[in-house]
Amino acid sequence: MAIQRTFSIIKPDATARNITGKIISKFEDAGLRVVASKRIHMTRAQAEGFYAVHKERPFFGELVEFMMSGPVVVQVLEGEDAVAKNREVMGATNPADAAEGTIRKEFALSIGENSVHGSDAPETAAEEIKFFFSDDEIVG
Ligand code: CMP
Repeated sequence: MAIQRTFSIIKPDATARNITGKIISKFEDAGLRVVASKRIHMTRAQAEGFYAVHKERPFFGELVEFMMSGPVVVQVLEGEDAVAKNREVMGATNPADAAEGTIRKEFALSIGENSVHGSDAPETAAEEIKFFFSDDEIVG
C-alpha cells in the first residue's frame, strides 16, 4: 500500500476538553503524520456543505449545530494506508461499539459528540481535503 492522505476533524467536544494533543498523539503513534492543520470555527455554510451527504438523515440538524458549537481542528494526515489506519485509530462511530485503545473509546461522549471525524475512502478524502485546504497549505 502506498503513502496516502486522509482528512480529519477534531470536533468541538474534544477542543472544549483541551484534548487535541492527546488525540494527535494517537495519530502520530499509529504512524500518521500531520501535514496540514488549522483551528477554525465552522460557519453554518461550511458545516452544512461538509455534511451534505447526510442532509436527509434525522440527525442532520443536530450534527450541523454541534459542529458549529465551538472550535474544531481540521487536519490532513499522511502515511501508509492512511484512510484505513485513521479509521482504525478512531474506532467505531458509536463509542459504545469502539474497540479498546481507540480515540472514540477513550474520549468520545456519545455517537454525536464523538471527538473525531475521518474520511471513509480515498475519493472522499480527496474531496474533504479540498473542502478545507488549498495545495499550498499542505506541507508533507
Ligand atoms: P462523522 O464521522 O463525523 O460523520 C457523520 C456524523 O454524524 C458521525 O460522525 C456522528 O458524529 C454524527 N451522528 C450523530 N447522530 C448520529 C446517529 N444517530 N447515527 C450516525 N451518526 C450520527
